[in-house]
Amino acid sequence: MGRISRVKDIFAITILLLGAMLVLVYFNEPQPCYQESAISEGHKSSRKTSSLLRWHQKMKPGNLSQDLPTICKRNTTVATISSFESFSPMIQDFLYYRHCRSFPMILDLPDKCGGADEPEDVFLLLVIKSSPKNYERREVLRKTWAEERSYKGKMIRRIFIIGTDGSGFEKERLNQLVMLEHQHYSDVLQWDFKDSFFNLTLKQILFLQWMERRCPQARFLLNGDDDVFANTNNMVEYLQSLKDNDGSKHLFTGQLLRYSPPVREPWSKYFVPFLVYQKDFYPAYCSGGGYLLSGYTASVIYKISASIQILPIDDVYMGMCLAALKLNPDSHMGVKTLWYVPSKKVDTYHPCFLKELLLMHKFPPSDVYFLWHQINNPNLNCNTKT
Ligand SMILES: *[C@@H]1O[C@H](CO)[C@@H](O)[C@H](O)[C@H]1NC(C)=O
Ligand SMILES: *[C@@H]1O[C@H](CO)[C@@H](O)[C@H](O)[C@H]1NC(C)=O
Ligand SMILES: *[C@@H]1O[C@H](CO)[C@@H](O)[C@H](O)[C@H]1NC(C)=O
Repeated sequence: MGRISRVKDIFAITILLLGAMLVLVYFNEPQPCYQESAISEGHKSSRKTSSLLRWHQKMKPGNLSQDLPTICKRNTTVATISSFESFSPMIQDFLYYRHCRSFPMILDLPDKCGGADEPEDVFLLLVIKSSPKNYERREVLRKTWAEERSYKGKMIRRIFIIGTDGSGFEKERLNQLVMLEHQHYSDVLQWDFKDSFFNLTLKQILFLQWMERRCPQARFLLNGDDDVFANTNNMVEYLQSLKDNDGSKHLFTGQLLRYSPPVREPWSKYFVPFLVYQKDFYPAYCSGGGYLLSGYTASVIYKISASIQILPIDDVYMGMCLAALKLNPDSHMGVKTLWYVPSKKVDTYHPCFLKELLLMHKFPPSDVYFLWHQINNPNLNCNTKT
């Protein structure tokens, strides 16, 4: 009897311990905050409900598997290419993941353009490539040229597109920072991929995919970096002045680059090996610092992109899509993003100089703040000065 009860006790304790362990494991499970269902109400409900609770609410039976994102596996076959070993880890990494186009979404903005029920007439959608660490830049843009507002009766909206940075605790901390911003400003789209230079094309494609679903009605987009000075008021005026100013026709304009050859020097940030791009020249494209495009062009680029293999340089990739569509990128004199060396007589920090431009590369956050106020100063008189 005593022996049997001891066996029973041990059995019971074991069961208890196992149960406790299961509970622990269950609650330590990384929260699948990338589940679309759990995120979609992110910026509305997250202030009140913890993400764990929201997760439990969404994880009712019947909803489990269908939304689970498929995590893209690396293509190990690429390692058998004869020259593979000679490439830098960055290029190797690119080749391993080149085919991946879907990554779990961490932060969504389903209602940025009014949502499916009440779509808003967004005239200019500012799509700004940022990365988790660039908090100061985002903060300043929110207060200056990227402020959400109406200008001359046209609605301007803002989105930062972001991946993830770092690993372990650092990655988590940065994700939390971005989540706080998202809760406060509702202006961050984030996906769970490494936010690196060579993943910018991926970021671009993921954004276009989002737009197709959540904001197809946006008439025009400014696609640009978070370290530029954009005169968004001038952009609205320019776009409004076009004959086709409803976004339904092709438009793609910025600083136009023609006949640029791929960089073949392995030490360069822009190095693209022959294996990745074979031709001697890239098609015409607009420098990625900032360009304007219509909603129509964004949509057709997204559709054709499915059939065009990823090239790591994002602005060139857009040019490749345009070439495949037989559409031309255009040049706008007001966009100065590259190799712009003004004469010594021109003060590029003079508000009257910037007032005429659409976009200029590149300024630290404090200068963006200062200059935005300068050019919007009602007392600024640019006719008397030269
Ligand atoms: C599944 O998730 C959707 C939101 O994505 C929710 O509206 C729906 O109620 C859920 N269904 C079940 C059975 O929980
Ligand atoms: C994987 O890489 C090999 C070699 O480059 C290529 O032939 C194959 O199409 C790739 N597979 C995928 C799924 O991209
Ligand atoms: C792109 O992102 C994926 C997913 O995070 C990552 O595995 C890969 O290394 C990144 N590629 C580059 C070239 O940084």
